Amino acid sequence: MTTTITLIEGDGIGPEVTAATVRVLESTGVDLEWEPHLAGVNAMDKFGKPLPEELIESVERNKIALKGPVTTPVGRGFRSVNVELRKRLDLFANLRPIRTLPAIPGHFGDVDLIVVRENTEGLYSGIEHEVVPGVVESLKIITRRASTRIARFAFEHARRHGRKRLTAVHKANIMKLSDGLFLTCFQEVAEEYPGLLADDRIVDNMAMQVVVNPLDYDVLVLPNLYGDILSDLCAGLVGGLGVVPGANHGDEVAVFEAVHGSAPDIAGRNIANPTALIRSGALMLDHLGKKAQADRVRAALNAVMADKSGRTPDLGGDATTSGFADALVEEIERAG
Ligand code: NAI
Ligand code: MG
Repeated sequence: MTTTITLIEGDGIGPEVTAATVRVLESTGVDLEWEPHLAGVNAMDKFGKPLPEELIESVERNKIALKGPVTTPVGRGFRSVNVELRKRLDLFANLRPIRTLPAIPGHFGDVDLIVVRENTEGLYSGIEHEVVPGVVESLKIITRRASTRIARFAFEHARRHGRKRLTAVHKANIMKLSDGLFLTCFQEVAEEYPGLLADDRIVDNMAMQVVVNPLDYDVLVLPNLYGDILSDLCAGLVGGLGVVPGANHGDEVAVFEAVHGSAPDIAGRNIANPTALIRSGALMLDHLGKKAQADRVRAALNAVMADKSGRTPDLGGDATTSGFADALVEEIERAG
Protein backbone atom coordinates (compact mmCIF):
# COMPACT_ATOMS: atom_id res chain seq x y z
CA MET A 1 0.00 0.00 0.00
CA THR A 2 1.27 3.46 -0.88
CA THR A 3 1.89 5.78 2.05
CA THR A 4 1.43 9.48 1.41
CA ILE A 5 3.92 11.74 3.16
CA THR A 6 3.68 15.51 3.48
CA LEU A 7 7.03 16.85 2.29
CA ILE A 8 8.21 20.21 3.60
CA GLU A 9 11.52 21.02 1.94
CA GLY A 10 12.04 24.20 3.98
CA ASP A 11 14.67 26.75 2.96
CA GLY A 12 18.43 27.31 3.24
CA ILE A 13 20.01 23.85 2.87
CA GLY A 14 16.50 22.35 3.24
CA PRO A 15 15.80 21.76 -0.47
CA GLU A 16 19.24 20.19 -0.99
CA VAL A 17 19.07 17.74 1.93
CA THR A 18 15.41 16.96 1.29
CA ALA A 19 16.01 16.07 -2.37
CA ALA A 20 18.88 13.80 -1.31
CA THR A 21 16.72 12.12 1.34
CA VAL A 22 13.78 11.47 -0.99
CA ARG A 23 16.09 9.82 -3.54
CA VAL A 24 17.78 7.64 -0.94
CA LEU A 25 14.52 6.49 0.69
CA GLU A 26 12.96 5.73 -2.70
CA SER A 27 15.95 3.65 -3.74
CA THR A 28 14.96 1.05 -1.12
CA GLY A 29 11.84 0.38 -3.20
CA VAL A 30 9.57 1.57 -0.41
CA ASP A 31 6.15 2.63 -1.70
CA LEU A 32 5.89 6.34 -0.83
CA GLU A 33 4.04 9.22 -2.41
CA TRP A 34 5.03 12.79 -1.58
CA GLU A 35 2.78 15.81 -1.08
CA PRO A 36 5.10 18.85 -1.27
CA HIS A 37 4.31 22.02 0.70
CA LEU A 38 6.06 25.36 1.19
CA ALA A 39 6.83 26.88 4.60
CA GLY A 40 8.69 29.92 5.91
CA VAL A 41 9.91 32.69 3.58
CA ASN A 42 9.01 30.69 0.47
CA ALA A 43 5.41 30.35 1.68
CA MET A 44 5.38 34.03 2.71
CA ASP A 45 6.11 35.03 -0.89
CA LYS A 46 3.34 32.83 -2.29
CA PHE A 47 0.61 32.72 0.38
CA GLY A 48 1.38 35.81 2.46
CA LYS A 49 1.94 33.68 5.55
CA PRO A 50 4.77 31.43 6.67
CA LEU A 51 2.65 28.44 7.68
CA PRO A 52 -0.16 27.92 5.12
CA GLU A 53 -3.34 26.14 6.20
CA GLU A 54 -2.91 23.71 3.27
CA LEU A 55 0.27 22.45 4.89
CA ILE A 56 -1.39 21.86 8.27
CA GLU A 57 -4.34 20.11 6.60
CA SER A 58 -1.99 17.91 4.59
CA VAL A 59 -0.11 16.74 7.71
CA GLU A 60 -3.39 16.22 9.59
CA ARG A 61 -4.69 14.09 6.73
CA ASN A 62 -1.52 12.05 6.13
CA LYS A 63 -0.54 11.93 9.82
CA ILE A 64 3.09 11.95 8.75
CA ALA A 65 5.58 14.44 7.35
CA LEU A 66 9.23 14.73 6.43
CA LYS A 67 10.52 18.24 7.02
CA GLY A 68 13.62 20.20 6.10
CA PRO A 69 14.73 23.17 8.22
CA VAL A 70 12.92 26.51 8.05
CA THR A 71 14.64 29.84 8.77
CA THR A 72 13.20 32.06 11.51
CA PRO A 73 14.08 35.77 11.36
CA VAL A 74 15.88 36.88 14.54
CA GLY A 75 14.32 39.53 16.77
CA ARG A 76 11.59 40.59 14.31
CA GLY A 77 9.37 39.22 11.52
CA PHE A 78 7.16 36.13 11.73
CA ARG A 79 7.20 33.72 14.64
CA SER A 80 9.02 30.43 14.30
CA VAL A 81 7.30 28.14 11.81
CA ASN A 82 8.84 25.21 13.64
CA VAL A 83 7.45 26.16 17.05
CA GLU A 84 4.08 27.03 15.48
CA LEU A 85 3.86 23.74 13.58
CA ARG A 86 4.63 21.73 16.71
CA LYS A 87 1.98 23.64 18.64
CA ARG A 88 -0.69 23.51 15.94
CA LEU A 89 -0.28 19.75 15.46
CA ASP A 90 0.26 19.17 19.18
CA LEU A 91 3.58 17.43 18.48
CA PHE A 92 4.42 17.38 22.15
CA ALA A 93 7.44 15.08 22.10
CA ASN A 94 10.69 15.73 20.31
CA LEU A 95 12.80 12.59 20.18
CA ARG A 96 16.46 12.80 19.22
CA PRO A 97 18.58 9.67 19.24
CA ILE A 98 22.24 10.64 19.62
CA ARG A 99 24.37 7.68 18.56
CA THR A 100 27.94 7.41 17.43
CA LEU A 101 28.04 6.17 13.85
CA PRO A 102 30.36 3.18 13.47
CA ALA A 103 32.04 4.98 10.55
CA ILE A 104 32.87 8.10 12.58
CA PRO A 105 33.98 7.01 16.07
CA GLY A 106 35.00 10.47 17.39
CA HIS A 107 36.49 11.20 20.80
CA PHE A 108 33.67 10.26 23.11
CA GLY A 109 33.33 6.47 22.74
CA ASP A 110 30.13 4.73 21.77
CA VAL A 111 27.60 7.40 22.67
CA ASP A 112 24.00 6.16 22.77
CA LEU A 113 21.77 8.83 24.27
CA ILE A 114 18.14 9.64 23.67
CA VAL A 115 17.12 13.26 24.14
CA VAL A 116 13.39 13.65 24.83
CA ARG A 117 12.43 17.31 24.65
CA GLU A 118 9.08 18.83 25.63
CA ASN A 119 8.01 20.57 22.47
CA THR A 120 4.99 22.78 23.13
CA GLU A 121 5.57 25.11 26.07
CA GLY A 122 8.27 26.30 28.50
CA LEU A 123 10.14 29.38 27.35
CA TYR A 124 9.01 28.74 23.74
CA SER A 125 5.45 29.82 24.48
CA GLY A 126 6.35 33.09 22.74
CA ILE A 127 4.41 35.16 25.28
CA GLU A 128 6.50 38.30 25.59
CA HIS A 129 5.65 41.92 26.22
CA GLU A 130 7.18 45.21 27.14
CA VAL A 131 6.17 46.14 30.69
CA VAL A 132 7.54 49.70 30.44
CA PRO A 133 10.14 51.00 28.00
CA GLY A 134 13.40 49.18 28.70
CA VAL A 135 11.77 46.32 30.61
CA VAL A 136 10.44 43.22 28.83
CA GLU A 137 8.90 40.08 30.21
CA SER A 138 8.95 36.60 28.64
CA LEU A 139 6.67 34.04 30.23
CA LYS A 140 7.77 30.49 30.83
CA ILE A 141 4.71 28.27 30.94
CA ILE A 142 4.98 24.85 32.55
CA THR A 143 1.83 22.79 32.97
CA ARG A 144 1.14 19.57 34.84
CA ARG A 145 -0.54 18.20 31.70
CA ALA A 146 2.39 18.73 29.33
CA SER A 147 5.02 17.73 31.91
CA THR A 148 3.23 14.49 32.74
CA ARG A 149 2.64 13.74 29.08
CA ILE A 150 6.29 14.15 28.09
CA ALA A 151 7.44 12.09 31.08
CA ARG A 152 5.02 9.29 30.19
CA PHE A 153 6.14 9.39 26.54
CA ALA A 154 9.78 9.08 27.66
CA PHE A 155 9.13 6.19 30.07
CA GLU A 156 7.02 4.33 27.48
CA HIS A 157 9.69 4.83 24.84
CA ALA A 158 12.37 3.61 27.27
CA ARG A 159 10.33 0.54 28.19
CA ARG A 160 9.58 -0.40 24.59
CA HIS A 161 13.19 0.04 23.49
CA GLY A 162 14.88 -1.73 26.38
CA ARG A 163 16.45 1.39 27.87
CA LYS A 164 17.38 1.33 31.55
CA ARG A 165 17.58 4.79 32.96
CA LEU A 166 15.90 8.17 32.58
CA THR A 167 17.31 11.47 33.82
CA ALA A 168 15.12 14.55 34.18
CA VAL A 169 17.03 17.78 33.48
CA HIS A 170 15.93 21.00 35.17
CA LYS A 171 16.84 24.10 37.14
CA ALA A 172 14.38 23.53 39.97
CA ASN A 173 16.81 24.93 42.52
CA ILE A 174 16.23 28.39 41.04
CA MET A 175 12.89 28.05 39.21
CA LYS A 176 11.27 26.21 42.06
CA LEU A 177 7.71 26.47 40.79
CA SER A 178 8.08 25.94 37.04
CA ASP A 179 10.97 23.49 36.82
CA GLY A 180 9.83 22.14 40.18
CA LEU A 181 6.52 21.11 38.61
CA PHE A 182 8.29 19.55 35.61
CA LEU A 183 10.44 17.48 37.99
CA THR A 184 7.55 16.48 40.26
CA CYS A 185 5.54 15.22 37.28
CA PHE A 186 8.55 13.20 36.08
CA GLN A 187 8.95 11.66 39.54
CA GLU A 188 5.25 10.81 39.77
CA VAL A 189 5.31 9.05 36.39
CA ALA A 190 8.55 7.26 37.40
CA GLU A 191 6.64 5.51 40.18
CA GLU A 192 4.53 3.76 37.54
CA TYR A 193 7.72 2.24 36.08
CA PRO A 194 9.53 0.51 38.95
CA GLY A 195 11.69 -1.45 36.48
CA LEU A 196 13.34 1.71 35.14
CA LEU A 197 15.91 3.81 36.97
CA ALA A 198 14.88 7.46 37.29
CA ASP A 199 16.99 10.33 38.55
CA ASP A 200 17.60 13.99 37.79
CA ARG A 201 20.34 16.52 37.17
CA ILE A 202 20.52 20.30 37.24
CA VAL A 203 20.92 21.51 33.67
CA ASP A 204 24.30 23.25 33.92
CA ASN A 205 25.84 20.22 35.58
CA MET A 206 24.17 18.01 32.95
CA ALA A 207 25.82 20.00 30.15
CA MET A 208 29.20 19.23 31.71
CA GLN A 209 28.31 15.60 32.49
CA VAL A 210 27.33 14.71 28.91
CA VAL A 211 30.71 15.95 27.69
CA VAL A 212 32.81 14.29 30.42
CA ASN A 213 30.78 11.09 30.98
CA PRO A 214 28.42 10.67 28.02
CA LEU A 215 28.39 6.90 28.35
CA ASP A 216 26.96 7.14 31.87
CA TYR A 217 23.64 8.48 30.61
CA ASP A 218 20.79 6.88 28.74
CA VAL A 219 17.52 8.81 28.23
CA LEU A 220 17.40 12.55 29.05
CA VAL A 221 14.02 14.23 29.59
CA LEU A 222 14.03 18.01 29.29
CA PRO A 223 11.76 21.05 29.08
CA ASN A 224 11.80 22.87 25.75
CA LEU A 225 14.75 25.30 26.01
CA TYR A 226 17.16 22.95 27.78
CA GLY A 227 16.21 20.23 25.30
CA ASP A 228 17.00 22.51 22.39
CA ILE A 229 20.39 23.50 23.77
CA LEU A 230 21.47 20.06 24.94
CA SER A 231 20.42 18.51 21.61
CA ASP A 232 22.99 20.59 19.76
CA LEU A 233 25.56 19.94 22.48
CA CYS A 234 24.98 16.19 22.24
CA ALA A 235 25.16 16.38 18.43
CA GLY A 236 28.70 17.66 18.93
CA LEU A 237 29.59 14.36 20.65
CA VAL A 238 28.80 12.26 17.61
CA GLY A 239 29.97 14.22 14.57
CA GLY A 240 27.92 17.41 14.69
CA LEU A 241 24.61 18.69 13.43
CA GLY A 242 25.10 17.10 10.03
CA VAL A 243 24.35 13.64 11.38
CA VAL A 244 21.74 13.81 14.17
CA PRO A 245 18.13 12.91 13.29
CA GLY A 246 14.91 13.69 15.06
CA ALA A 247 11.19 13.05 15.26
CA ASN A 248 8.32 15.12 16.60
CA HIS A 249 5.49 12.97 17.91
CA GLY A 250 1.90 13.79 18.81
CA ASP A 251 -0.76 11.26 19.72
CA GLU A 252 -1.46 10.49 16.06
CA VAL A 253 0.79 12.70 13.94
CA ALA A 254 4.56 12.50 13.50
CA VAL A 255 6.91 14.94 11.76
CA PHE A 256 10.45 13.78 11.06
CA GLU A 257 13.20 16.40 10.86
CA ALA A 258 16.89 16.80 11.64
CA VAL A 259 18.15 18.68 14.70
CA HIS A 260 19.98 21.24 12.57
CA GLY A 261 18.64 24.47 11.10
CA SER A 262 18.75 25.97 7.61
CA ALA A 263 22.53 26.62 7.74
CA PRO A 264 22.48 29.84 5.66
CA ASP A 265 26.29 29.91 5.76
CA ILE A 266 26.51 26.90 3.42
CA ALA A 267 23.13 27.00 1.65
CA GLY A 268 22.97 26.59 -2.13
CA ARG A 269 26.52 25.23 -2.42
CA ASN A 270 25.70 21.51 -2.57
CA ILE A 271 27.97 20.78 0.42
CA ALA A 272 25.46 20.26 3.25
CA ASN A 273 25.49 16.86 4.90
CA PRO A 274 22.13 15.18 4.24
CA THR A 275 22.85 12.39 6.76
CA ALA A 276 20.77 13.95 9.55
CA LEU A 277 17.66 14.15 7.40
CA ILE A 278 18.31 10.76 5.82
CA ARG A 279 18.52 9.23 9.32
CA SER A 280 15.30 11.09 10.20
CA GLY A 281 13.83 9.43 7.10
CA ALA A 282 15.01 6.05 8.40
CA LEU A 283 13.23 6.79 11.70
CA MET A 284 10.15 7.56 9.60
CA LEU A 285 10.42 4.18 7.88
CA ASP A 286 10.72 2.51 11.31
CA HIS A 287 7.59 4.38 12.38
CA LEU A 288 5.78 3.08 9.27
CA GLY A 289 6.77 -0.49 10.16
CA LYS A 290 9.28 -0.62 7.29
CA LYS A 291 12.26 -1.57 9.40
CA ALA A 292 13.99 -3.67 6.75
CA GLN A 293 14.16 -0.69 4.38
CA ALA A 294 15.27 1.61 7.23
CA ASP A 295 18.08 -0.82 8.06
CA ARG A 296 19.20 -0.81 4.43
CA VAL A 297 19.48 2.98 4.55
CA ARG A 298 21.50 2.83 7.79
CA ALA A 299 23.79 0.10 6.44
CA ALA A 300 24.45 2.16 3.31
CA LEU A 301 25.29 5.23 5.41
CA ASN A 302 27.87 3.23 7.33
CA ALA A 303 29.35 1.77 4.18
CA VAL A 304 29.63 5.07 2.31
CA MET A 305 30.95 7.02 5.30
CA ALA A 306 33.56 4.39 6.15
CA ASP A 307 35.84 6.03 3.60
CA LYS A 308 36.64 9.56 4.75
CA SER A 309 36.79 11.01 1.23
CA GLY A 310 33.21 9.82 0.64
CA ARG A 311 31.92 12.14 3.38
CA THR A 312 30.74 15.72 3.11
CA PRO A 313 33.15 18.54 4.16
CA ASP A 314 31.71 18.86 7.72
CA LEU A 315 33.13 15.36 8.33
CA GLY A 316 36.43 16.03 6.62
CA GLY A 317 35.57 14.64 3.18
CA ASP A 318 34.99 16.26 -0.18
CA ALA A 319 31.69 14.71 -1.28
CA THR A 320 28.88 16.98 -2.41
CA THR A 321 25.34 16.64 -1.08
CA SER A 322 24.09 15.14 -4.32
CA GLY A 323 27.24 13.05 -4.83
CA PHE A 324 26.84 11.58 -1.35
CA ALA A 325 23.22 10.71 -2.18
CA ASP A 326 24.37 9.08 -5.46
CA ALA A 327 26.83 6.92 -3.50
CA LEU A 328 24.10 5.88 -1.04
CA VAL A 329 21.67 4.98 -3.82
CA GLU A 330 24.37 2.94 -5.53
CA GLU A 331 25.25 1.16 -2.28
CA ILE A 332 21.58 0.40 -1.50
CA GLU A 333 21.09 -1.04 -4.99
CA ARG A 334 24.35 -2.98 -4.79
CA ALA A 335 23.51 -4.50 -1.38
CA GLY A 336 20.08 -5.41 -2.80
P1 NAI B 1 22.11 25.65 12.03
O1 NAI B 1 21.80 24.33 12.65
O2 NAI B 1 21.39 25.98 10.79
O3 NAI B 1 23.68 25.74 11.72
C1 NAI B 1 24.67 25.69 12.74
C2 NAI B 1 26.02 25.32 12.13
O4 NAI B 1 26.01 23.94 11.76
C3 NAI B 1 26.34 26.10 10.87
O5 NAI B 1 27.71 26.36 10.82
C4 NAI B 1 25.96 25.16 9.74
O6 NAI B 1 26.68 25.32 8.56
C5 NAI B 1 26.24 23.78 10.36
N1 NAI B 1 25.31 22.76 9.85
C6 NAI B 1 24.00 22.61 10.19
N2 NAI B 1 23.46 21.61 9.50
C7 NAI B 1 24.43 21.12 8.70
C8 NAI B 1 24.47 20.07 7.73
N3 NAI B 1 23.37 19.33 7.46
N4 NAI B 1 25.63 19.84 7.09
C9 NAI B 1 26.73 20.56 7.35
N5 NAI B 1 26.76 21.56 8.25
C10 NAI B 1 25.61 21.84 8.92
O7 NAI B 1 21.84 26.74 13.16
P2 NAI B 1 21.72 28.34 13.03
O8 NAI B 1 22.73 28.87 12.09
O9 NAI B 1 21.71 28.80 14.43
O10 NAI B 1 20.26 28.59 12.45
C11 NAI B 1 19.99 28.93 11.10
C12 NAI B 1 18.48 29.07 10.92
O11 NAI B 1 17.84 27.80 11.09
C13 NAI B 1 17.82 30.02 11.92
O12 NAI B 1 16.89 30.81 11.21
C14 NAI B 1 17.08 29.11 12.86
O13 NAI B 1 15.94 29.69 13.40
C15 NAI B 1 16.71 27.94 11.95
N6 NAI B 1 16.51 26.65 12.63
C16 NAI B 1 15.52 25.85 12.15
C17 NAI B 1 15.32 24.60 12.70
C18 NAI B 1 14.24 23.76 12.14
O14 NAI B 1 13.69 24.05 11.08
N7 NAI B 1 13.87 22.68 12.78
C19 NAI B 1 16.14 24.12 13.82
C20 NAI B 1 17.20 25.02 14.20
C21 NAI B 1 17.36 26.25 13.63
MG1 MG C 1 17.66 23.67 17.93
